[in-house]
Amino acid sequence: MKPHFLLAMLAPAALMAETVHISTPGTSMVLDATVGQPLQIVYYGEALSPADIEALPNTGAPKLNAYPTFGLTGGNETAMTVKHPDGNITLDMAVTGVSQSKEADGADMTTITMKDRYYPFTIDVKYRTYPDADIIETWAEATNGQKKGDVTLTEFASGYLPIHQGNVYLSQFYGTWANEARLEEARLPHGMKVIKNKDGARNTHTAHSEVMFSLDGAPQENAGRTIGAALCYTGNYELRIDTDDSNYHHFFAGINPDASAYILAPGETFVTPPLALTYSQEGKGGVSRNFHRWGRNHRLAHGNTPRKILLNSWEGVYFDINEEGMDQMMNDIASMGGELFVMDDGWFGVKYPRTTDNCALGDWTVDTNKLPHGIQGLCDAAKKHGIKFGIWIEPEMTNTTSELYEKHPEYVLKANNRDLNLNGARGGTQLVLDMANPKVQDLVFSVVDTLLTNYPEIDYIKWDSNSAIINHGSQYLPAEKQSHHYIEYHKGLLKTLERIRAKYPDVTIQDCASGGGRANWGYLPYFDEFWVSDNTDALQRIYMQWGTSHFFPAIAMASHISNSPGHQTFRTVPLKYRTDVAMSGRLGMEIQPKNMSEEDKAQCRKAISEYKEVRNTIQMGDLYRLLSPYDKLGCASLMYVAPDKDEAVYYWWKTESFVNQQLPKIAMAGLDPDKMYVVTELNRIDNEPLPYEGKAFSGRYLMSNGLEMPLDHNVDYNKRNDYASRVLRLQAK
Ligand code: DGJ
Repeated sequence: MKPHFLLAMLAPAALMAETVHISTPGTSMVLDATVGQPLQIVYYGEALSPADIEALPNTGAPKLNAYPTFGLTGGNETAMTVKHPDGNITLDMAVTGVSQSKEADGADMTTITMKDRYYPFTIDVKYRTYPDADIIETWAEATNGQKKGDVTLTEFASGYLPIHQGNVYLSQFYGTWANEARLEEARLPHGMKVIKNKDGARNTHTAHSEVMFSLDGAPQENAGRTIGAALCYTGNYELRIDTDDSNYHHFFAGINPDASAYILAPGETFVTPPLALTYSQEGKGGVSRNFHRWGRNHRLAHGNTPRKILLNSWEGVYFDINEEGMDQMMNDIASMGGELFVMDDGWFGVKYPRTTDNCALGDWTVDTNKLPHGIQGLCDAAKKHGIKFGIWIEPEMTNTTSELYEKHPEYVLKANNRDLNLNGARGGTQLVLDMANPKVQDLVFSVVDTLLTNYPEIDYIKWDSNSAIINHGSQYLPAEKQSHHYIEYHKGLLKTLERIRAKYPDVTIQDCASGGGRANWGYLPYFDEFWVSDNTDALQRIYMQWGTSHFFPAIAMASHISNSPGHQTFRTVPLKYRTDVAMSGRLGMEIQPKNMSEEDKAQCRKAISEYKEVRNTIQMGDLYRLLSPYDKLGCASLMYVAPDKDEAVYYWWKTESFVNQQLPKIAMAGLDPDKMYVVTELNRIDNEPLPYEGKAFSGRYLMSNGLEMPLDHNVDYNKRNDYASRVLRLQAK
């Protein structure tokens, strides 16, 4: 077996190392770490043999600084810029050593230490491999080694990667509230491309910190050399791609340095968040599958535990929480085969009852006018119905109208000598707590701790965050560290989440932020899933979930059957279609079941029971995106294939409707060509089965031809509509 890393020309060990090979089974990164020289990157891509590595110096490829710093070159973009105590703003970094170790989980860790030639300032550039997923994480740790005097960091990227120019396409994700994770793909032009976030608290409504680079022209799903990169951070970020006259696209990713100059005291170390990189010859699909495997195995909380099917109360009753209503919803979801009920916003507030969104955040005491038997009563009711109980909180926030704010106005973020800015705040009153303050960290911890200690039956927490930082100052941080407020917010948040997970490793926690505002791998070590969007319209969800699926697995994507007409788009969508879309992620419901017909309930009961049969394949399988809705060919399709290729679940959704329209026939992917697969339709509503129902086809046939999808459903005349979708289960014989 190939070693995961290799140090050539070691003499003596760890001092004069030159070539460092960091590898996973499918990828190689080669660095030149000659002591006394800047660290250089020689290669990143397909796995190389020792002979290839030896031949690399003869390929004519230039060596570029692997972690460029500001100071000794011309106007090149850099990863780190600092100001030394004497005002010098340059760095001149040279390698002083390489060390390698094995992590507890078997991963390989390489640290390359660089030291400034004059100042006592060091940067450790870190690389951690994930052999099971072909992912290499990289980040930097910068230390001020001065005995006296602060160093100010003004730029602090996690990592850098040069990508040779050519026909390189960038896949990126943009959006806004209720329209998150839209896919956009274009050839990289010259000049600077910046993808950034400055919300402060949430970071994925508008743009995502994940991108793909397709090296062989327009992105393909299952072919083409493709690099995937994900900055794993909870706060403001900046991805920069500088396409200059050097033949390279220079890609940098890290915390957004805007308004965030960071002072490092003597002896202090600044650790950047990891940038996860992968490379695949199997196009975007290969990159997605690597990220999904890495996420499930290493980064997502309980990444390999099947998720429960739930009903969330939000779109069903909004703030109209009461005991009878909660009991009815629990009864309904239990009778449809669901496994969990989640009570959303509106259950708390004594002095200021939370009947709308303008008060009471922070006052996490149950409103006994609404719930006379409190949370215990709800836990007992869930038990009676044979399901689990979950609850909504938004612990990082408060309102000006709240007991918390009345007692502790010093706990909120606020700039000195400025009135509170409530411009655009939710409910006109929402404020963000100052997570830099250890007392606030304790408070946020205690919100969760009190709930879970008092009610150990609570199985699930929906952790929401509905505000940007709009008051730019910390009442806790000293004057000279006000520019730390964004970074310290997230350090405090992560510290608190760490504490929560240490005490409550088993509880399921959903990461929600006004919908999909926190879909980032920086959050997911502490969360089991995220809410993809506040928009639950099935048609629009196809587009959003398609984008999201590029970096996040189905198990993490909460996807709910909601009302028709939809509460966001007001579109009328049949239940079959709503179900078939929700079933392609972590299935749940977000609807008032009381308003559903018995026939609809029966349809959901059937869908839930069938989802349970294929849940493992959807949530733990390999994703193959087959036809993109963004191609605008009238339909979209994807499938999940179990790792042993014995089972697959295939989805087909019509995305526009015309009489006698001609739609492409879609070849499947990811199957074993030599296995025979029996086809069964799930969620069937048609009067007649499909011609291939119960029939077997080889993986080879299905992957080269696919199956015909009728344009419409064969249903009674009065049930006809302009939507069509299919979910097929394929089982190897
Ligand atoms: C925003 C979330 O995205 C919704 O799902 C819901 O929980 C509301 N907040 C509650 O206020």
